[in-house]
Amino acid sequence: MYSEKVVEHFMNPRNAGKLKDASAIGEAGNPVCGDLMRIYIKVVKRNGKHIIEDIKFETLGCAAAIATSSITTELAKGKTIEEALAITNRHIVNELQGLPATKLHCSVLASDALREAIYNYMKKEGLKIPEWLEKEHERIARERNIVEHRHEDFTELQKKVFNSKS
Ligand code: FES
Repeated sequence: MYSEKVVEHFMNPRNAGKLKDASAIGEAGNPVCGDLMRIYIKVVKRNGKHIIEDIKFETLGCAAAIATSSITTELAKGKTIEEALAITNRHIVNELQGLPATKLHCSVLASDALREAIYNYMKKEGLKIPEWLEKEHERIARERNIVEHRHEDFTELQKKVFNSKS
């Protein structure tokens, strides 16, 4: 059973869509169900800090994946990249007042896509990437590739959506 907050975020997702002037994009896939999520971040530099000024998401997935994407963008907006990296799937689930046990993996997709976006931003900016984030990136990229190969028909459709202009 979904909490009221999950249903509310699913029905009225915040920050859905593309971000045209994104500083970086992160993509994650769930190898079990084949769902994909993309997170766009716009980062500004203020007083030596890198702040996520704007963030949007595109999710091809279930109700829980959409609700977790929505809440993740709300949690990350206005945060420094370090603060945003500290957002875990446990935070996301707590913010949503819980998820059914069979849907817990959906929250991992959201935190993975956010971490990938931040990883790609740090790489582009030449920032020092912590070892744990490098390892996370390797795992997320590996799982993303599994989705691509295991769910070929679906990913063709996903590519069309992600590559569309609006
Ligand atoms: Fe795939 Fe929810 S069932 S992310």
